[in-house]
Amino acid sequence: MRHPFVDYLEGLLGSLEHVTEGDVARYIPILAEADPSLSAVAVATTSGRVHTAGDADAEFSIQSVSKPFTYAGALEDRGVELVDEYVALNPSGEAFNELSLEADSHRPDNAMINAGAIAVHQLLVGPGATPAERTERAVSLMSTLAGRRLRVDERTFESEMANADRNLALGHMLRSHGILQDRAEDVVAGYIAQCSVMVNVRDLAVMGATLASGGIHPLTGDRVLSSLVCRQVLSVMSSAGMYDAAGQWMAHVGIPAKSGVSGAVLGALPGQVGIGTYSPRLDPFGNSVRGVEMCRIMSEDLDLHIM
Ligand code: DON
Repeated sequence: MRHPFVDYLEGLLGSLEHVTEGDVARYIPILAEADPSLSAVAVATTSGRVHTAGDADAEFSIQSVSKPFTYAGALEDRGVELVDEYVALNPSGEAFNELSLEADSHRPDNAMINAGAIAVHQLLVGPGATPAERTERAVSLMSTLAGRRLRVDERTFESEMANADRNLALGHMLRSHGILQDRAEDVVAGYIAQCSVMVNVRDLAVMGATLASGGIHPLTGDRVLSSLVCRQVLSVMSSAGMYDAAGQWMAHVGIPAKSGVSGAVLGALPGQVGIGTYSPRLDPFGNSVRGVEMCRIMSEDLDLHIM
């Protein structure tokens, strides 16, 4: 018999079918090909129950939802103190693809904007790591968190690399300030590879549940991340995960979260659940219109607001 919570999730998606505002991302050509009618949601508890509804098998590129996980990887690999020397902890108040550097230190404002995520990507593994080793670290950590081997989609990677002027410009600026030491081209290519990893909503919910449980994987019971790292990642997600809408989001939804331009939203409510939603139409902030609504309604119906 179908779990009653799945009926709830199906009803939730049904109630949002009429919502057709927003548009798919167009600045990366392959994202413009997404089917705007797709809609999916998954919820994973920290105790390992996973429920999905809608187009739950649809795969999409993880895009910026990769940022909390590479941040977690860098924090694990290099320690909180060292990572803090390269990336600040400020809400940026600007769009995700702005330079947004702190005035004196020239550190990117946070790890959830592109400049911060590019700086974080270089910190993966350790000094002297090759570009291939850093990309593998990003993909294998996300795979461990999802509970299955994830892959980089070559078409997405190529599509974004062919339109990477802005990220390359950010990379060169970071290098000019000594935040990057490696070739900007290599670090940006690694960052774009991490954004091109394919996932579904179930993967996102399980990955979120691992953050929510302080680093214990909900399906295997293995410790994958330290609780200190999860605390830091969730803190930054709370203040900067939904870009300029982060303040509104925390007031109305109240779940640490991260969105991506493919239409994904990942939520992680400490001690309770991970949430993954997918619907490609975006609002002016770059957040999925239906995804934001799904999370807002679930937060209200299920009393998930952190406050
Ligand atoms: O760097 C970019 O533009 C994309 N790879 C990821 C951006 C993204 O998902 C921002 N999210 N709203």
